[in-house]
Amino acid sequence: MIAVPDRDRVLGRYAKHVNTSLASLARLVAAPVEVSAAGTKVLGSDGHTYLDCGGFGVFLLGHCHPSVVAAVRAQLERNPLATRLFLNPELAQAAEDLAGITPAGLDYVFLTNSGAEATEVGLKLARLAGKKHIIAMHGGFHGKTFGALSVTGRAQYRDPFAPLLPHVDFVKFGDAAALCASLTPDSVVLLEPVQAEGGVRLAPDGYLREVRQACTSTGAVLILDEIQSGMGRLGAWWGADLAGVTPDLLLTGKILGGGVMPVGGVVATAEMFAPLNADPLLHSSTFAGSPLAATAVSATIAAIKSEGLIERTRELGPVVRELAIEAVAAHCAHAVTEVRGQGLLIGLDFVSPETATEFLIGLLDQHVIPSYSLNSSNVLRLTPPALLDSADLRWLGGALNAAAKHVARTVPRAA
Ligand SMILES: Cc1ncc(COP(=O)(O)O)c(C=O)c1O
Repeated sequence: MIAVPDRDRVLGRYAKHVNTSLASLARLVAAPVEVSAAGTKVLGSDGHTYLDCGGFGVFLLGHCHPSVVAAVRAQLERNPLATRLFLNPELAQAAEDLAGITPAGLDYVFLTNSGAEATEVGLKLARLAGKKHIIAMHGGFHGKTFGALSVTGRAQYRDPFAPLLPHVDFVKFGDAAALCASLTPDSVVLLEPVQAEGGVRLAPDGYLREVRQACTSTGAVLILDEIQSGMGRLGAWWGADLAGVTPDLLLTGKILGGGVMPVGGVVATAEMFAPLNADPLLHSSTFAGSPLAATAVSATIAAIKSEGLIERTRELGPVVRELAIEAVAAHCAHAVTEVRGQGLLIGLDFVSPETATEFLIGLLDQHVIPSYSLNSSNVLRLTPPALLDSADLRWLGGALNAAAKHVARTVPRAA
């Protein structure tokens, strides 16, 4: 029996010691305490089981994936954190495994503790390659540490922290001509194959290939941030694979730890990694690449392969998208401008942030958890595990219909 924490005590502690606004928000949406989770489900302190279609893109393998948990548990009991003076076999294995699934030519791996740290390492490697001018995308999201924030395309998050990194230009995502107009041999270009926090923005066909060609011909460095789009989320290991491009640096995170451990990483060409090969202390972090994290990475890659989760994502993506399209068309077409996505990264674009919030409330009412989008308040996201079975899909379909009806009641149609 799992002890159910007392919600009021948890809320009280949030209000006193965690964050007052988060406490108020939890009160407002009647958020329960998370008690436990397994597979596609999360158990709340309200006694309800929730279908997790959110989690900000982390849980492609669901919660507590048995083989990842088993590997991490065994590692926990054997050697959780390394001395860092001796060799770490788990890191060596994880690096080989990760290099084995990234595009050919990306060979050197630096594991980090988060996605934002992966962005930092990417930017630092670009700087070591002599690139002082950064081109990032409006709407792009790369994390909230100072460097990552400097290249994150939402002024609302950046402005309170100015001055940030200098020499950063933002251009329109999907517009190769705009990028080319800013590109110099001194540039590093940083972008996501699909802007996830930007509200599931897809680039036009051929865009990434054009970006790659432009970077190559100018001598600029290309970093693809696959922290949310990678590790199977789009129905391929990487967005880079779908586009047929190889970046100079690829950033990963989220699914990388299998929903069990927090892990990010950078995978680099030998050329881009050369300065760190020459001096490993140019970038280091006490906990980076710990045996626990590395074990989770290897177990995650093995599980995705052995359970065919990429193929399953390719099958489930259109099914989930169709459920959303049908629910919207049946009840609240006036409130939604588009339902779009790739694989199991699906966005519902509403006419206003308030409408998106009403839909979110409608889904929570049906015990389905979505994610909002950090860079686009109009867009609600569905990023479910690649484990949804037919009962889960029926549940999700019913919940989407109920939420769409709720929106139809609360959001007036234009006269
Ligand atoms: C594309 C992308 N890059 C970077 C990050 C930052 O990762 P983290 O929150 O682990 O620092 C995120 C997080 O949502 C992301 O979606």
